[in-house]
Amino acid sequence: MPMSLLIRNGRVITASDDYVADVYCENGTITAIGRDLPSHRFQAERTIDASGQYVMPGGIDVHTHLDMPFGGTMSSDDFETGTIAAAFGGTTSLVDFAIQYRGETMRHALDRWMAKASGKAVIDYAFHMIVTELPDAGLTDMDTMVRNEGITSFKLFMAYPGVFMVDDATIFRALRRTGENGGLVCMHAENGGVIDVLVQEALRLGHTAPKYHALTRPSRAEGEATGRAIALAEMAGVPIYIVHLSSADALEKVRQARDMGLPAYAETCPQYLFLSYDNYEEPGFAGAKYVMSPPLREKWHQDVLWKGLAKNDLQVISTDHCPFCMNEQKELGKDDFSRIPNGAPGIETRLTLVHDGGVRQGRISLNRFVELCSTTPARMFGLFPRKGTIAVGSDADIVIFDPQAEQVLGVKTLHMRVDYNPYEGRRVKGTPSTVISNGEVIVENGVFVGRKGAGRFVKRGPSLAPAGL
Ligand code: URP
Ligand code: ZN
Ligand code: ZN
Repeated sequence: MPMSLLIRNGRVITASDDYVADVYCENGTITAIGRDLPSHRFQAERTIDASGQYVMPGGIDVHTHLDMPFGGTMSSDDFETGTIAAAFGGTTSLVDFAIQYRGETMRHALDRWMAKASGKAVIDYAFHMIVTELPDAGLTDMDTMVRNEGITSFKLFMAYPGVFMVDDATIFRALRRTGENGGLVCMHAENGGVIDVLVQEALRLGHTAPKYHALTRPSRAEGEATGRAIALAEMAGVPIYIVHLSSADALEKVRQARDMGLPAYAETCPQYLFLSYDNYEEPGFAGAKYVMSPPLREKWHQDVLWKGLAKNDLQVISTDHCPFCMNEQKELGKDDFSRIPNGAPGIETRLTLVHDGGVRQGRISLNRFVELCSTTPARMFGLFPRKGTIAVGSDADIVIFDPQAEQVLGVKTLHMRVDYNPYEGRRVKGTPSTVISNGEVIVENGVFVGRKGAGRFVKRGPSLAPAGL
């Protein structure tokens, strides 16, 4: 296991820089950056030639669901298979969601998720806390999470009645508390009440096919909830972060808020940039592959989202990786779309898709690519500057990315533990060639060479959202 590693002659890309240099790593940390480091006595136990390739901070995926019970089954990747797949895709840190179920404390939830991840994860990880109720003791729990445990963000749901959905009073209480303890609320913004009425109506009419998942979750329901969430945050006087934003309607609410100077932030995900409602029309039950919430939208929303990313109305690209196999899992909803477990795989394909469809198509710059997939995620969720950049003192979590290498995406070539891929057969240009976590090479030559359990739990600091992002 090398204690020192030298990456030579790569094109170092950060959110703001683009230059050719050597990067020297020692004991898991970047300790020197410069031209021709060997002639300055930086000799490493291992040297990698990165000529012609990008040397970027490792991807940070701030929205994953590994080993999560949902929809009567479990997401099919656990912390071993999911983090290995993440590593192949150039992601070196993730923030997963622990779930506080009704009647239990956040401590219990955190312990359960720690047990799922520790000894398994191959890259560093952290947790958000999903809050499903908020009695007074829950408010104190939130303080403890932020101040002692490094859990500095909380997800609340305006959808999934009877499972995760909370009312506006609960949301408002949580938001106000983050104003005191420095946490950040992440919102699943869809109007669950409206959606529930539409779902019941569709089922009464015998509309059971997967496409009805999308047809009963209109983009207006996302826009309404997004606007309401932002208004609640404004009344509480705190920032808010909208997760998995999928539609122009929702983006418009975020844009308006930001134009007014409000600290409203949002992420979108590759599925909303590359897939569309048309996928639900695939023959037979194939549309179930794309059943996720919010659902895929009509294709024209994609352009609006890309513009939002370019103009910083959207600040982050995460994956919402929540895989379920078609066989036995998605099939639970064969006769009733509302029983199809919600979610899709994506932890491995984020960087290559965004590079190919974003940078190569001229929609975003190379620096913006790094900013959206690594730097702002780190800043938003209290990991910066330890992670999210290439700088002296930062963790040596580095992706050497070959912009010329081509890959055909599909279940046979990818590593996620799921029996289909939403991008099956798509050819992309630009893929990670070598992935380094904590100064150790964990993926090279298409092979995983890291160690199960080498990933560390990272206590996060406060978000930089209040200062503006
Ligand atoms: O369909 C989705 N998004 N599944 C994961 C749970 C969530 O709401 O993020
Ligand atoms: Zn959600
Ligand atoms: Zn999610």
